[in-house]
Formats: sequence, C-alpha cells, structure tokens
Amino acid sequence: MTSTLALLGGKPAVTATGPHFTWPPIDDTTRAKVTAQLDEAISLPGRSGIVAELEEGLQDYFGVRHAITTSSGTAALHAAYWAARIRPGDEVIVPAWTFHATASPLFHLRAVPVLCETGPDGNIDPARVEELITPRTRAVMVTHLWGKPADMAGLVAVANAHDLAVLEDGSHAHGASIAGQKVGTFGLASAFSLNGPKPLSGGEGGFVLTDDEDTYHRVLTFAHYNKRARTEIPEDHPLARYAVTGAGLKLRIHPLAAAIAHDQLARLDGYLAGRTEIAHHLTDRLAQVPGLKVTTPPEGVLPSWYALTLTYTPDELGGLPIERFHQALLAEGATEFDRPGSTCPLNQLPLYQDPGMLFPGHPHSQRRYQHGDFPVAEHSHAHTVKLPVWHREQDLELAAQYIAAAIKISDHHKELL
Ligand SMILES: Cc1ncc(COP(=O)(O)O)c(C=O)c1O
Repeated sequence: MTSTLALLGGKPAVTATGPHFTWPPIDDTTRAKVTAQLDEAISLPGRSGIVAELEEGLQDYFGVRHAITTSSGTAALHAAYWAARIRPGDEVIVPAWTFHATASPLFHLRAVPVLCETGPDGNIDPARVEELITPRTRAVMVTHLWGKPADMAGLVAVANAHDLAVLEDGSHAHGASIAGQKVGTFGLASAFSLNGPKPLSGGEGGFVLTDDEDTYHRVLTFAHYNKRARTEIPEDHPLARYAVTGAGLKLRIHPLAAAIAHDQLARLDGYLAGRTEIAHHLTDRLAQVPGLKVTTPPEGVLPSWYALTLTYTPDELGGLPIERFHQALLAEGATEFDRPGSTCPLNQLPLYQDPGMLFPGHPHSQRRYQHGDFPVAEHSHAHTVKLPVWHREQDLELAAQYIAAAIKISDHHKELL
C-alpha cells in the first residue's frame, strides 16, 4: 500500500501558502500611529505622551490603579519582585514549568526561586505550594501558561493562610479572566511582557500592574529613576530622596513600542473573541483525533488562547514517538504545529541546576535541581504539541487544513512506525 503521508512522499494536506501565522497584526492605522510618534517624540523620560496614554489605557482595561510600563516583561518581573520587597535569602515559590524569566530575576536579588510541581496543564498546583512553604517564603509567583488562567482561588487561599504575597506573570494571558476577573489583578502585583508574539504586543516592552501605592512607588524607584520618580513619588515618601538615582536601573519602554502596544490594546478584545471562536472549533475537532487529547477550560474561565495546547498520547498510535508525529505534521505543511522550546521545566536548565557559575555564593547554591524532579510538569512538557490560535473568520479555512493534517497522520500512523 502506498502511503499518502507527505513525509513518505505524498501530497501535503495544507495547501495554503505561508506564513500561516504572523503576530501582531500591523495595518495602516498602526503604521500611521508609529509615524506620528516618530515625529512627536522618540524619548519620553516623564509619564507623558504615548507612555501616559498606554498606561491609562492599561489601567482602564484591567481596572487597576496603576500600570507602569517597562522595557521588557523580564524587567517588569524584576521590578515587581523588588517592589514586593523580596530580599536576599527570601524564598519565592514559582511554577516548575514556565519561561525562565518568570523566576530568573530572583537571582539578581539574591533570593531563592523554589520550583513547584504543576498540574498537567502546566499551571502551578496550589496543593503542592503548601508543601514548599518555609519560614523564609515571602511570595508565590504564578504563570498563566499558554494563556490558561491558573487556579487563583486555590492559590490566594494558600497564600492568605501563610501571609504570602501573590504575584502573577501574565505574559501569555493578556485579557484572560476567571469569572469575569482579569488575570493580573488577583495579587499584590503582576508583570506582563509586550514582546513580539504575546497576545498584546508592542514588539518589545512590558508593564507592571498594582493597586498598591507603595508597590507603585517602589516600581518607579526601581525602573524609572529621575524624572518619573521625581514627579510621581510624593515628597514626604521615604523613597523620594532616592528619586534622582532610583535603585540604579533605567527600564523604560521605547515610545515607538508604546505606540504599537497602544494601537493593539484597542483591538485586544476583538482578537480574544476571534481566537475563542477558532479555539473552540479546533478543540471540538482535534479532540476526536486518536493520538491527541485536548482539555476544555472550566466554566467561567476565559483563556487568552496564546496557544492551543494538545497532549500527545503515543499509546493511541502504537507508540509512535512524538518527534516523528511532529515531523509528519510539518511535512504535511502544518508548519505552525510546534513543541515547546525554551518554555520548559526550569529544572532542565543549567541556571537552575548550577547557578553558582553565574551567581557565585548565591543562597540558591544549596538547592540544585535536576532532570526528573518534576514528573508531572516534565511529562506534560514532553508530550505537548501546540498551535497558535488564529482570530479572523477567514482563518477557519486554514484551521480546517491543519485539522485535516492531524487526522491524516493519525489515520496513517502505522506507516510511520
Ligand atoms: C511567561 C513569560 N514570562 C516572561 C517573559 C519575558 O518577557 P520579555 O521577553 O518581554 O522580557 C516571557 C517572554 O517570552 C514569558 O513567556
């Protein structure tokens, strides 16, 4: 029998020409806004112009008192930890599976990231958080991985019972919500990336959200020395006398990035609605494909659909290795099917196995992680195949071709064994 699989010489299932997914959508309105910004100002040391407009837009969108933009999500996380008074030797519980920048800024504060096992969806498991709490624990950081909101009710309950600060990394989850409450608004502060592929993108950039005045002033001290710190921190505040130098770092967003993010923010809810529709379509169909498992969000939980994650189940396909399955998808022209790369269980990274080379004498040096420490997170990571989620109605045709590619490989898997 000759195979029709593209990997074995057949015709690809996906005939649409690429690229199949580009983000963020840039059109003439975006271009006009960026051009206008070029003429208006390309450096904004104070909270004015497009930076003020973006921050006000974010405050309105999330319903928070303060949004403070930064040069990146990593910088936002660093500032949020410092603002939350994380000190040398303090422990912060972080998800074992996330992008490393969720936790890595802690090394610079000489604080200790304590990795916590996740559930099969990759989100931190509140029951496991409790086991890791020690007298040195100060905070829990949550990532809403791939845009799926974490169990915030469970986490807030554990954190409150132990007097820990709740921090959120919302970098995958702009606009995601639980029972109408947006992620990024559940704790003391949250940090978001505005980097390239993120649901809300400025190309580069980030921001911190908080309702807490002191946290706001501390973020300014950390990330916005001189003009912003001088104008926004009240004169009678103990940090006011440090306003000129702040804590020594300048982590401002570029005004052109702010212009792009501001343009995109107005469209974010439209993107989310479109992604939700296409995600449901993909989920309904891919759930029927032997070899793939798809979980649907619980009632009231709205993901950002930064990615649609599928769990590969080799047992249903005669043990076909995931590498071969993925290779077959790519050969079918379904080139947006991806496996998680640098967003991996952190115990697999040298920084978390042996931080001493980069941070000599760091308190973390007694806590060395290794492969196998987090079986649930590692198993899920190793069996995840993901797709970006399109948002336009005309993308349904492309989605249909991707579904056809997955069905074809599942049907013909024996030929790949
Ligand atoms: C979960 C998560 N946190 C933090 C970051 C860091 O953001 P940035 O790249 O803007 O520094 C990323 C970005 O890739 C991320 O995926």
